[in-house]
Amino acid sequence: MLILCAFSFLFLEANLALGLHIPFLQPSQTLLSSSGAPGANPYALKNHGNVAYTTNVTLNGKTFEVVLDTGSSDLWLNTENVELPGIKDSGISVPIVHRGLALSKDPLVTGAVSVGNFTWGGHAVQNQTFVHIGSSKHLKSRYHGVLGLAPPGGSNMLRKLVKHPEYNTTNILNHVFNATPHEPNLITLGLTRNNLSETTGGVFTIGEIEPGYRRIIQSPRLAVVSDTFWGTFMDGIIVNGRRIKGGSQSHNMIRVPAGKTLVSLDSGMETALAPAMYVDAMYSKLPGAKFDGRDGYNLPCDTRVNISLVFGGTKYPIHPIDTVGPEGLDKHGKVKCVGKFRYTPRDFGLDFVLGTTFLRNVYSLFDYGYWTPGVKSLPYVQLLSVVNPNKAWQDFPAMNTERVRQLTNPNSPSGTPSVYVASVISQPQVAAPTATPSIAQKIKKRMDWSFWLIFGLLGLVIMLFVFLAIDRVYGIVSGKGYKSLDEQNRV
Ligand SMILES: *[C@@H]1O[C@H](CO)[C@@H](O)[C@H](O)[C@H]1NC(C)=O
Ligand SMILES: *[C@@H]1O[C@H](CO)[C@@H](O)[C@H](O)[C@H]1NC(C)=O
Ligand SMILES: *[C@@H]1O[C@H](CO)[C@@H](O)[C@H](O)[C@H]1NC(C)=O
Ligand SMILES: *[C@@H]1O[C@H](CO)[C@@H](O)[C@H](O)[C@H]1NC(C)=O
Ligand SMILES: *[C@@H]1O[C@H](CO)[C@@H](O)[C@H](O)[C@H]1NC(C)=O
Ligand SMILES: *[C@@H]1O[C@H](CO)[C@@H](O)[C@H](O)[C@H]1NC(C)=O
Repeated sequence: MLILCAFSFLFLEANLALGLHIPFLQPSQTLLSSSGAPGANPYALKNHGNVAYTTNVTLNGKTFEVVLDTGSSDLWLNTENVELPGIKDSGISVPIVHRGLALSKDPLVTGAVSVGNFTWGGHAVQNQTFVHIGSSKHLKSRYHGVLGLAPPGGSNMLRKLVKHPEYNTTNILNHVFNATPHEPNLITLGLTRNNLSETTGGVFTIGEIEPGYRRIIQSPRLAVVSDTFWGTFMDGIIVNGRRIKGGSQSHNMIRVPAGKTLVSLDSGMETALAPAMYVDAMYSKLPGAKFDGRDGYNLPCDTRVNISLVFGGTKYPIHPIDTVGPEGLDKHGKVKCVGKFRYTPRDFGLDFVLGTTFLRNVYSLFDYGYWTPGVKSLPYVQLLSVVNPNKAWQDFPAMNTERVRQLTNPNSPSGTPSVYVASVISQPQVAAPTATPSIAQKIKKRMDWSFWLIFGLLGLVIMLFVFLAIDRVYGIVSGKGYKSLDEQNRV
């Protein structure tokens, strides 16, 4: 989910509904060059120990390694100690909620809106607005920011800038789409799994589908049911052959069809969140499983469980190596493992947040639809399984032995595995504007349960758009003739 996000109490006005014209004075222009040869890695996508996936952007010539985050909507940079000639603060501040481990008790940092010239992959964007933190003692991260790829409706900066029409708030993705009108306005993501070291992050494309994964266009098109996050409905899960569905706790006014759950797809988060009953079903009966008293399970590292998620009647198996994973060393220097699905907090607003623990198992396509000006179609998501469950089951023991060895071997190239260094979380939804007064309390609360996040940027977005989009969502649901799992009787 949002790795981080800025939020604002002041901009709850309903007039920001998508589709309304927001006037800008200063048009900005996108210069384009090609995204590079197929199979190239023009975005320098990197996998940091399966914890964070980053891309490089340059701002006025300086390189920033930022987390590629489908769970948030803003471009945010840590510019501390970076000389940036030509950049000056706008004086417009956007509060950013974060959690930098042991650096500050105060989760609030204020970022300033600025404008700069960016490059990303082969694309160049002039006068891109972004939020930056130039002098924060609080933020210490191995990454230099976050590139949010979630819908513009989730952008806190945009909400803030509605009063400042001199800024063009077009996000970086839409700048690129605008400059490539002949290409579909979609992005795709195929994340690598690695040995806890730094490796190439896999595939990231804009406007095109990676040749090896063309079959994805035959996957069910999953309607996106929110204008603020990549939200869609899930049919259920299968744990060692047993099906579980329903039990939605969603209370963000998106009507969840009977038996289904509301899911956010979030490349900015390592783990996954699921309602308690699902997490219990995954882990509680496994040998050696111990509830940690908060939100998840401690498990022996060699725990092997089959978990599949079902979307649009199609089963997406998760590699057993992703369902249970290391979370540091215990006091005897032994690797501790945990279930990578944890409880979704009760008041979270949606059911599942699927981080890279799930996303590594699919090639995913995110179609931006009408979020790009001039495009009329509905946004959607498609997923293509990239896991062979039989092979995964067989490969697991050796893979697990190897990862435990690497984590306990001080000479391993992975040294201090980044699995200890970074993880991210925040909240894409607040139930209703009435929740506003207690946000500080909520943050405190979440900081307690998020002890397991080592570097977590914890945020909240106040998402009015969701409410404004309800009609549209219902339209999507009924228009597409959404059927329940029972009716489909598949899987
Ligand atoms: C913002 O920049 C984009 C270029 O990507 C341009 O198409 C758009 O018209 C600009 N918006 C305004 C209001 O100037
Ligand atoms: C970017 O901003 C600068 C300074 O305001 C202006 O001179 C330039 O024309 C702008 N470029 C585009 C493409 O809007
Ligand atoms: C990406 O940025 C990081 C950090 O600045 C740098 O070490 C790396 O060389 C960059 N990669 C590419 C391909 O530019
Ligand atoms: C971006 O580049 C344009 C054209 O070179 C320049 O006029 C403008 O000042 C630059 N903007 C910033 C913020 O550096
Ligand atoms: C991970 O380790 C295994 C076993 O040593 C090896 O076969 C594999 O190539 C490694 N993978 C990567 C991405 O380094
Ligand atoms: C998990 O799935 C694999 C591959 O389909 C199968 O061989 C194995 O028996 C399953 N294990 C359990 C516990 O269901």
